[in-house]
Amino acid sequence: MSKTHKIAIIGGDGTGPEVVAEGVKVLKAAGERGNISYDFIDVPLGGENYMATGELLTPETLESLKTMDAIYLGAIGHPDVKPGILEKGILLDLRFSLDQYINLRPVKLYDGVDTPLKNKGPEDIDFVVVRENTEGLYAGAGGVLKKGTPDEVAVQESINTRKGVERCIRYAFEYCKKRNKGNKLTLCGKTNVLTFAFDLWERTFYEVAKEYPGITADYAHVDAICMWMVKNPEWFDVIVTDNMFGDIITDLGAMIQGGMGIAAGGNINPEGVSMFEPIGGSAPKYTGMGVINPIAAIGAAQIMLETLGETQAASWIEQGIIKVLRDDLKDLGAGKMGFSTSEVGGLIADFVKNSAQ
Ligand code: IPM
Ligand code: MN
Repeated sequence: MSKTHKIAIIGGDGTGPEVVAEGVKVLKAAGERGNISYDFIDVPLGGENYMATGELLTPETLESLKTMDAIYLGAIGHPDVKPGILEKGILLDLRFSLDQYINLRPVKLYDGVDTPLKNKGPEDIDFVVVRENTEGLYAGAGGVLKKGTPDEVAVQESINTRKGVERCIRYAFEYCKKRNKGNKLTLCGKTNVLTFAFDLWERTFYEVAKEYPGITADYAHVDAICMWMVKNPEWFDVIVTDNMFGDIITDLGAMIQGGMGIAAGGNINPEGVSMFEPIGGSAPKYTGMGVINPIAAIGAAQIMLETLGETQAASWIEQGIIKVLRDDLKDLGAGKMGFSTSEVGGLIADFVKNSAQ
């Protein structure tokens, strides 16, 4: 008998709810085809809810999220709320409180999608970034003294624990082994300057590497990684890195795979509740217009199904994404697709239902 997946839906802000609705449409199509059932539970978190109630992530909401099989998130970020409040009070709080210590971000160029990189195609751009998701500069350590005076001091510290670094590196080696593509794992760091934090990362990396003789353990500085991602993206198979560097290089990754309309990711706690999201943000100026590309959100749904063990259904969704990108969409940008947000979701849902192999 098939299992019912209990999935929290956080549409969130801006265009988040619209793109998540398309992901749900596609999930339902895959469910019908593959006899998978879901229990979708709407969770009102985001800027509107904050302005109406003054609440961010409450202990009650957190407890209820802990009982879910997964969380499907649209976007968090509202133009009328000061930057940092929703990001820290909802998105980062979710990642930290649910100990989603991996942020998994595939960078894959599909057929029919333009990359700004000259002379590079789908065979060159296919790698995955494993970003540490609970520590580093994001941990919130530091403080400010004499604020607003000429003597102001601001300190923001990067926290790197042996446990946090090791579990992330272990996940990346396991992921690279399972992926079995290039069998190469690159540590992205800055050992020439950040000699405390990345010394810990580098030592741990090469220690764990001994347990994976089939995988080439490789190292590059973050600045060089940015250069190679543009010049020779085919060199990468899996990259593992800290929270801040991972944040930065995955926006670069999103651009070389066709933009924010495509890029999806998972905040993963392998032993707990994971959360899946398009990485593009809330795009408030397009809210309600039906012009935003839902493929990133649909890609996040695909990663969610993979993580839930529904690999067949996940593959149907990927086939749908591939088909629509190759044959149907004119462009990926908002308003330029030749289809509305919901038509794109419909095309993929139909393909999943009727044509996927
Ligand atoms: C991301 C975003 C977030 C981050 C922000 C919104 C807090 O940029 O998911 O990459 O920095 O992690
Ligand atoms: Mn980011």
